[in-house]
Amino acid sequence: MGKTGRQIVKANVEEVISDLLKAYADEWLAHYQYWVTAQWIRGIDADTLRPILLKQSEDELKHAEKLARRIIQLGGRPVLDFKDLLAASGCGYIPPPNDPTDIKKVIEDVLKAEECAIKFYSKMVEKYRETDVVTHELFEELLEDEVDDEEEWEKILSKL
Ligand SMILES: [Fe+2]
Ligand SMILES: [Fe+2]
Repeated sequence: MGKTGRQIVKANVEEVISDLLKAYADEWLAHYQYWVTAQWIRGIDADTLRPILLKQSEDELKHAEKLARRIIQLGGRPVLDFKDLLAASGCGYIPPPNDPTDIKKVIEDVLKAEECAIKFYSKMVEKYRETDVVTHELFEELLEDEVDDEEEWEKILSKL
């Protein structure tokens, strides 16, 4: 990142990077959770759910990309070793249920991941409102997407 880009960050850059890394790991794990769940599920509702899971999985990967870009801009590095992802994450990883026909559990687990992201991002939006405008806006954008995701899944769950 350039000189002026750095100067306008009033927050502690190391702390910003560490918050961004947590989000980066969460997004990657959500990406994988939704993707592998889409492969795994079976049953009547599975064909309806699969494309929605794959679409959101893709969206979470795009979120991870945006976070990686900001991390690098600030002079940090994204999680380079796959085995460090879980330790870096704030929300953790929820594997798909052992029973591939348990669609209700699948949706509840996705909702858990979305809820954790919404809570964290809403905290981050407040935290960086005055001290790092670019990071603040990134978190705001992600927050908006996760709020949409949650709404979509709540609707699906209510129709089951
Ligand atoms: Fe996301
Ligand atoms: Fe999401």
